[in-house]
Amino acid sequence: MKTGQGKIAEILLDGSMRIECSPDLIPSPGQYLHAHKPASDLSLPVSLFQMDSSPNGFRSAPPTPLDWHPGDLINLRGPLGHGFHIPSSAKKIALIALDESIARLYGLISLSLKQNREVVLVCDSTSQDLPEAVEVQPLQALSDVLKWADYLAIDIARQNLNQLKEKFGEQQPTINKIEAQILIHTSMPCGGIAECGVCALTLNHEWKMICKEGPVFNFLSLWERGRGEG
Ligand code: FES
Repeated sequence: MKTGQGKIAEILLDGSMRIECSPDLIPSPGQYLHAHKPASDLSLPVSLFQMDSSPNGFRSAPPTPLDWHPGDLINLRGPLGHGFHIPSSAKKIALIALDESIARLYGLISLSLKQNREVVLVCDSTSQDLPEAVEVQPLQALSDVLKWADYLAIDIARQNLNQLKEKFGEQQPTINKIEAQILIHTSMPCGGIAECGVCALTLNHEWKMICKEGPVFNFLSLWERGRGEG
């Protein structure tokens, strides 16, 4: 883990940012950076997830804090947490955004295409910013996609975890045969430093800190939580 400064090069219309920083600060898909604008009374530290990267920086998923502007210097710490790991055997990748945004899954698209994997994005939001090779399906088509895929990367907000049963309830026999990971996003104000507990989650009757032990978890662990702990 490193600390350093990044510079906001650009804020895009979708609320994402281009940040110039040292290559060793760039998070891999699913990991995050703890970021804070010095001398800002307005904004708390935020977690920045990667959408794509270049040798001198990365594009971070929205939202961008309102008082952050192009040219600002930002204090960065990371990369933090566990990210996604696509198994080498996986050839058919399904990215499933259960919330409004695909941004935190976006970094897996170019990674998968570079490795000649097929990618289907399952979401109910629109994005004009996708490579042609990516097929987009609505959440209604989830059961068909699960029959096709051999790896799932899912994104969900912590407050919506109770929706997993509703979305995947009838698909359990299929899911048990697929490698699947889930990113749980929530506020992570201390990024594991102060053990503030804001990001705590009970998983299999144990407390887990999303900022340290996630934010990407094995999906079946979450599934057991849903069945065993309600
Ligand atoms: S954000 Fe403080 S313990 Fe996770």
